Amino acid sequence: PASARLSNGQEIADLARAEEGLISRRIFADPEVYELEQERIFARGWFFIGHESEIPEPGDLVTRSCGIDPVILVRDDEGVVRVFLNSCRHRGMRVCRTDRENASFLRCPYHGWAYKNDGRLMTAAAEEHYEEGELDKPNLGLIPVAQHDSYQGLIFATWDPEAPPLHDFLGDMKYYLDIIVGRTGGVEVLGPPQVWDVETGWKFATDNFTDNFHVFSAHHSLVELGMLPNDPDFASHGHMIVAEEGHILHLTGGAPTEEYELFGLPHELRAQIPDHLTPEQVEMARKTAYSAGTVWPNFHWLQLMSSGTIGQRDVPFLNFRLEVPISPTRTRMWSWLAVDRDASPEFRKATYETYARTFGPAGIYDQDDMENWEDCTRAALGPAAKQHTLHHTMGIAREIDESWPGPGRAYADAYGEMTQRSWYAAWRTYMTREVTA
Ligand code: FES
Repeated sequence: PASARLSNGQEIADLARAEEGLISRRIFADPEVYELEQERIFARGWFFIGHESEIPEPGDLVTRSCGIDPVILVRDDEGVVRVFLNSCRHRGMRVCRTDRENASFLRCPYHGWAYKNDGRLMTAAAEEHYEEGELDKPNLGLIPVAQHDSYQGLIFATWDPEAPPLHDFLGDMKYYLDIIVGRTGGVEVLGPPQVWDVETGWKFATDNFTDNFHVFSAHHSLVELGMLPNDPDFASHGHMIVAEEGHILHLTGGAPTEEYELFGLPHELRAQIPDHLTPEQVEMARKTAYSAGTVWPNFHWLQLMSSGTIGQRDVPFLNFRLEVPISPTRTRMWSWLAVDRDASPEFRKATYETYARTFGPAGIYDQDDMENWEDCTRAALGPAAKQHTLHHTMGIAREIDESWPGPGRAYADAYGEMTQRSWYAAWRTYMTREVTA
C-alpha cells in the first residue's frame, strides 16, 4: 500500500498544514514529493485538455497533456471528440509530432504503424511477416483516457476510471464558470496557445494565480508607467470564493465607474449577458472587472482589464492558463486567449493586442511573475530552507460572508490567503487519500 510518510519519516499531511497557513517548502521542489504527486494527483485528477473551438472540424487535432502524459485531442471523422495517449502501441514512439493538424490517419514515424483518427490500428509494419495470432490489431489501438467530458466548451480528461464524473467534480464551480465563459452564450479560443518552460516548481505558479495582493509589488513597474492604479489596495475590492474540491476564485471590482462593470466588455456583449445568466449572477458580473479562478489543480482563468500600452485605456481580455510539471523544478506553461463568440473584429483585435503585450512569455506581467517563481524555487532547494514553512495566514480568522448569494464559501475583501489554504488542503487530500499511516 502507498505510504503516508516520506522516506525520512515525515508525515505528508504535516507538509501542508493548510488550516494554520503553514506550508512546508519541501513540497515545492523535492524530487520525492514530485514523484508521489505523479501517482496521487496526475494519474487521478481531471485535467484541462483544450477548448472545443480548437478542433471544430472532423480530423482536427491538437497535442496536449493529460496530467503529465502526452495526449492527442482529436475530432474523428464522425465528429466524435476523443483523447488518446500520444504513444505508439509498438515501441511507444510519439505518433503525432505536430502541435495541430487535420488528419484522418496518424502514421507512427518509427516503423509506420498507422492509426485511424478514432484510434483504431489500421496497418502495422511488415504485416505479412507476422504469423497467425501474432498481431492482435483490434486490441492494439491508441490508448484512450479513462474519461473525458466538457463543460461550457472546456474539455477535461482523466486517467482514472473511478474519478467522479466531470460535472460532479466541478460542482459549485460550474456556477462561476457560467459567469466567466457562459456569460454571452460561449467563448472561443483565438489562435494557438503560447507554450514555454519556466524553471519553477509547478505549485509556485498555481499559488500565484489566486493571489491578488502581489500585483502592486511584483508588477510595480506597471504602476510607475501609469498602466496600473497607484493604490496598493486597488485589487482588494471584491470577494474570494472557496468552491468544492479545491476550486477557488476571486471576483474583484475595478474603478467605481461604469467602464469597469461587467468585465469592461463592449456594450454589444454586455447586452447579451442577462439572456445567459440569472439576475444574481448578472449582479456579480456587474461588480467585477477582474477575476482569477482555479479548477483544481492546475487550470486557471484570468479575466483582466489592463492597458497594453502607456497612455492607452484599459481593455479586457480572458486568458486560460495551465501548468504542466516537467520536473521538480521545471514547469511547462500553457496560455490561451479566449474571446466571446459574438465579439466584433475591432474588439478581437484590441483584446489580442492587450493580452499579447501583458501576458505570455513576452508579456510584461508574466516576466515579473516568472522571476519570482524561479527565485522561490531555488530557495526551496536548500537543506536548511526545507526545514521551514512558508506563510499563508492572511484572513485566517475572516468570517464567511453569509449574505453572499452564490454557492461556496465567500469572503469579503479580495486580499487574503483563504483560497490558497483551500488549494493546499485539496493537495493534502489527494496526497494522503487511501494511503497507510
Ligand atoms: Fe510506432 Fe514502431 S514504435 S511503429
